[in-house]
Amino acid sequence: MTTISRIHARQILDSRGNPTVEVDLELDDGTFGRSAVPSGASTGTHEALELRDGDKAIYLGKSVLKAIQNVNGPIADVLKGKSIADQRTIDQIMLDLDATPNKSSLGANAILAVSMAACRARAGVEHKPLWQSLADQFDVINPTLLPMPMMNVINGGQHADSGLSFQECMIIPTGIANFSDAIRAGSEIFHTLQSLLQDAGYTVSVGDEGGFAPQVKSGEEAFDFLLQAINRAGYTGKVQLGIDAAASEFYTDGKYDVDGKMMTSSELTDYYVSLCDTYPLVSIEDSHSEDDWDGFADLTAKIGAHRQLVGDDLLVTNVERIQKAIDAKTVNSVLIKLNQIGTVSETVDAITLAQAHNLTAVVSHRSGETEDTFIAHLAVGLRTGQIKTGSLSRTDRVCKYNQLLRIEEQLGDRAEFCSPF
Ligand code: PGA
Ligand code: ZN
Repeated sequence: MTTISRIHARQILDSRGNPTVEVDLELDDGTFGRSAVPSGASTGTHEALELRDGDKAIYLGKSVLKAIQNVNGPIADVLKGKSIADQRTIDQIMLDLDATPNKSSLGANAILAVSMAACRARAGVEHKPLWQSLADQFDVINPTLLPMPMMNVINGGQHADSGLSFQECMIIPTGIANFSDAIRAGSEIFHTLQSLLQDAGYTVSVGDEGGFAPQVKSGEEAFDFLLQAINRAGYTGKVQLGIDAAASEFYTDGKYDVDGKMMTSSELTDYYVSLCDTYPLVSIEDSHSEDDWDGFADLTAKIGAHRQLVGDDLLVTNVERIQKAIDAKTVNSVLIKLNQIGTVSETVDAITLAQAHNLTAVVSHRSGETEDTFIAHLAVGLRTGQIKTGSLSRTDRVCKYNQLLRIEEQLGDRAEFCSPF
């Protein structure tokens, strides 16, 4: 039985130039797995704890040296000599060692880096691609579905200084036959959008997730640009729109400030309904603030039969919050972020709970990313059918799409691709 022989963490930088945790995990036969954790900007308050040192003299307080010590010390001590065979056992050993509800003792960034590196090492021992190894480990049949990419080509909110309230305006190639053509459509629309914005006198520098960050006055103006780009690139009717409003970020004291217009929760709901009447908007993430359960449920009651309504900060990849949302029909889709919960097994539990209740599961990057492509493998291995991993620029974003192109090639004739909408 192959066992863990060495675990080593180091501090590296994420795509925003902030420190994050990378782990190398070695097995007794010499096999090795490496993984790095991402980091959010518009983080939900209910997420597992990302441990940062807080010493302003080092990386402005953002260093992760304690998390690294936790990996190299206590986590390595309990896992050395343990079998790599079962991911749940490995994750449970770390959960027991941490013994807090939100991983505040060891840090979710410390635990997750080890959890993902263990998956990579196991795939190595098994001589399987990571997506196949994940599918086998978690009993998923037919890991052959390439996810629908939701490509965030206009950045706002906390991810840009554009002033736009909605954090992400995405294009979704629902009418395209295969994954590589979907990426081609995304790239052509992205570059067409660049010309349109330039012609209109807007800046074409990009935000944290590689989308443009023009100082448009409203979501409507952003959508008009997107539709124009889709049309001019020749994809009319084949590419639809999605947003991540990330509404917690424009919510204070019971009111939502949407591009300068103050709205109550129910006025915001009506606003989304009217946007859906006007635009081909098929997916809305975090429509309301993270504890405005009634606002979400109201929108779901009104348009949930025909629109995907995704909970991100609302659900934080946490099975208890997801179960509550299932029971109360709060949303019909769950955003999946590994570092919101902090282990691979718990992330898989969140996906399978959603899938068992006919909620869609959208695997997601964070706004602070690394070159790690784990989420591309997770989306295929767990057959989630959707991924959002940014725009068609910046290597921290396109490396995930590139990995999916490789998987599509590996799958050959077995590759499936279909619209969940
Ligand atoms: P974050 O943004 O990584 O900054 O939280 C991504 C999202 O909200 O989906
Ligand atoms: Zn979000």
